[in-house]
Amino acid sequence: AVAATPSPDPTSCTQEAVLVCTEAHLLREGRWSGQVHGRDVVVFHHQGGCYTMDRICHHAGGPLEDGDIEDIAGHACIVCPWHKIKITLATGESLYRAIDPATIKQRPPRTKWTSKGVKQRMHTAEVKDGNVYVTLSNNEQKVDSDYYYSEEYKKLVSAS
Ligand code: FES
Repeated sequence: AVAATPSPDPTSCTQEAVLVCTEAHLLREGRWSGQVHGRDVVVFHHQGGCYTMDRICHHAGGPLEDGDIEDIAGHACIVCPWHKIKITLATGESLYRAIDPATIKQRPPRTKWTSKGVKQRMHTAEVKDGNVYVTLSNNEQKVDSDYYYSEEYKKLVSAS
């Protein structure tokens, strides 16, 4: 299921769906991670849904496949094992506790879960005939997790 040629730029990525694992595996393990056309992705199975996103955490490169899934203010989130950032499974948004401006004068002020926007690139997973297929996103809008496929990052890695 792993393509030989990496295609790290999302806007030019191969749009062919790749069989990544069986449905039985996903149901048993709750997740699958690996490469699809050279991009590191993770597929989660949670409460009947399949969610696919970049595997490498946008924040500092943590392995999202090792995180726990938690409910945060009604959103199922993967919690990155490195610095505990919460990323919604449905949209790839990063959630944080912001101070509620209405309570700024209180000590302590109240906080509420707020979105920083989409930080993790979402892909598409589809279950067909007992197998799970992933199609990479080619959405042109840049997402923070794209950094791990940038020229800048490649230079950094090769210099170290
Ligand atoms: Fe994921 Fe820091 S690397 S929270």
